[in-house]
Amino acid sequence: MTQRTLVLLKPDAVRRGLVGNVLARFEAKGLSIVAMEQRHIDAAMADAHYAEHVERDFYPPLRTFVTSGPLVALVLEGDEAIEVVRSLNGATDGRKAAPGTIRGDLSLSNRENLVHGSDSPESAEREIALWFPGL
Ligand code: TYD
Ligand code: MG
Repeated sequence: MTQRTLVLLKPDAVRRGLVGNVLARFEAKGLSIVAMEQRHIDAAMADAHYAEHVERDFYPPLRTFVTSGPLVALVLEGDEAIEVVRSLNGATDGRKAAPGTIRGDLSLSNRENLVHGSDSPESAEREIALWFPGL
């Protein structure tokens, strides 16, 4: 089933010059870029995106991180895109993510883990509307 999912290449990906590397993996897999924009978000946008996490202990430093510099937001489309992107991203903690995944190959952190991918059809719908209203 064709799906759309919201992906972020977080500020560490931009800072480290890994946007091309990560995008190439999604493109090589066969996913299509439906929309893409570089943004530098404020705390309110971070809170809206991470609404499910704002009360968590790890959230204040996460907010600081995601607002620390520009990121690239995109919508990817393809067969089972939500699950496929999560699988390419790898486990949340880059130290534990499997080699071959984006986080497993390129991140050594549980916070600065390069990518976000929507975790369900409901999240994808909410996040796409938040980042790309009108799409
Ligand atoms: P989460 O939704 O659990 O992970 P994922 O991005 O794999 O869906 O958490 C959101 C982000 O919060 C995660 O990408 C990195 C950060 N985070 C921390 O900084 N510390 C933590 O302990 C966890 C669980 C997540
Ligand atoms: Mg998540």
